Amino acid sequence: MPVTFDPKRELKIAPSILSADFARLGEEIRDVEAQGADWIHVDPMDGHFVPNLTIGPNVVAAIRPHVKTVMDVHLMISPADTYIEAFANAGSDILTVHAEAGPHLDRTLQAIRGFGCKAGVALNITTPLSVIEYCLDKIDLILVMTINPGFGGQKFTHSVVDKVAAARKMIGDRPIWLEVDGGVDPTTAPLCWAAGSDVMVAGSAVFRGGTPEDYGKNIAAIKNACK
Ligand code: DX5
Ligand code: ZN
Repeated sequence: MPVTFDPKRELKIAPSILSADFARLGEEIRDVEAQGADWIHVDPMDGHFVPNLTIGPNVVAAIRPHVKTVMDVHLMISPADTYIEAFANAGSDILTVHAEAGPHLDRTLQAIRGFGCKAGVALNITTPLSVIEYCLDKIDLILVMTINPGFGGQKFTHSVVDKVAAARKMIGDRPIWLEVDGGVDPTTAPLCWAAGSDVMVAGSAVFRGGTPEDYGKNIAAIKNACK
């Protein structure tokens, strides 16, 4: 299902399957979607850009048929350009690269859209918003990292909330989603929502408990906290 931007700002929860049971990914995706997930967030890592190795295009392609919502793929790989085509062909709806993942961000963004995906840019904690100032017209999603990427279950970085607010201001009325990722739970999600983000990635805070009932309660707790 191709994803389209809705100018009406609505809260979306994007469970990160990094915290799911990797032996049952298809089932976990179906369960979490049945329990209110809006998007499915996928975290490929290369053991080089970040100190962890996770999944590649083959696994992304394998889970694709199970995703009925939106497959939001957050590449933590560098250089990213070499793999854009493979992750696009694997069925990504949104492909996000880190601003640091290559020498020519603008070119990378054009490549992502050229393969038919929405293009996202992830900003590390210390990466200034200004790196995307002159390519906003080629961006569909800004991902503000609220942890150092690489692992789930880390603590939220409060100093980044100001960057979320600045990003919301920079977006203005452009059709760009504003996503936060890392340490998002019922305590920290309201801070991000108030600062202007609309997509909350949450791994451990959603998959905690391990049953579909838990996922439902966990997603509802994040959504209710933002009301
Ligand atoms: C980490 C990933 C995140 C991670 C978030 O680098 O980008 O998506 O799964 O996990 P939590 O929500 O547990 O911080
Ligand atoms: Zn992520």
